[in-house]
Amino acid sequence: MADTLQFCAYTTFGDLADYPIFCLHAFPLKGSMLYSVAQQLSLEGYYVIVPDLRGFGASPISPEPVEMAQMADDILSIADECQLDRFAIAGLSMGGYVALALWKSAPARCSHLLLIDTRAGADTEKGRQSREDTAQIALVNGVDAVAQQMIPRLLSEFTVQHNPATVAAVRAMINGNTPYGIASASRGMALRPDSTPLLPEIDIPTLVCVGEQDIITNIEEAQHMAQAIPQAQLTVIPKAGHLTAIDAPATLTVAMASFMRNTKQ
Ligand code: MLT
Repeated sequence: MADTLQFCAYTTFGDLADYPIFCLHAFPLKGSMLYSVAQQLSLEGYYVIVPDLRGFGASPISPEPVEMAQMADDILSIADECQLDRFAIAGLSMGGYVALALWKSAPARCSHLLLIDTRAGADTEKGRQSREDTAQIALVNGVDAVAQQMIPRLLSEFTVQHNPATVAAVRAMINGNTPYGIASASRGMALRPDSTPLLPEIDIPTLVCVGEQDIITNIEEAQHMAQAIPQAQLTVIPKAGHLTAIDAPATLTVAMASFMRNTKQ
């Protein structure tokens, strides 16, 4: 079912009576990158809400940098609209930054965190410069230039070399966004604070997942994050690159569903 709010568009999968889980997408994609995972999770008995984060897909675009805390507020607005008091929150990469921001602002609303191909640290100075470069590429050269530059880093080498249909689908998802939306989110990511000091305070079940071949975040970063969170478990998704939800959706869903099943709701 597709629905639109004043601030954010979202699609739901499954039965409203089932346990709710938000799934938040990566940069510079949109909610549809998670539809395969969401569909499979709904068959496992979860009510899955997949938003287009602000600036992406069918959601509104802001000319200003969009901070992760703003995106987290958008998720809370959807939860209020759907009358969801408590829910699990899964975020992939940029979606993970938003999940951490959401836990920071409304910990009582979060029952589980699933941090996928993401990190807790802020950007370095070089990282912030590269966010600005990405924003400029989007605004000056267009969205497809961003897609071409990022795809080899987003997907596993195997997918890039042997799965042209998947590469084309990811490129089309990126090209469905606007230069302004991409630039605002890129600049917003550069402003995110270091969430590392929060990690020991996370007192809910947490799954940290990372693609074995992720070169944007990596296994070491995921290990540090999992070690710092008291109730965290770490799962490495074999043969997957950064976008595990696209390189290995079935394996990722099994990891998410078994984590949810084995932890209190
Ligand atoms: C993402 O996949 O959301 C981005 O690669 C995150 C980032 O660049 O830090």
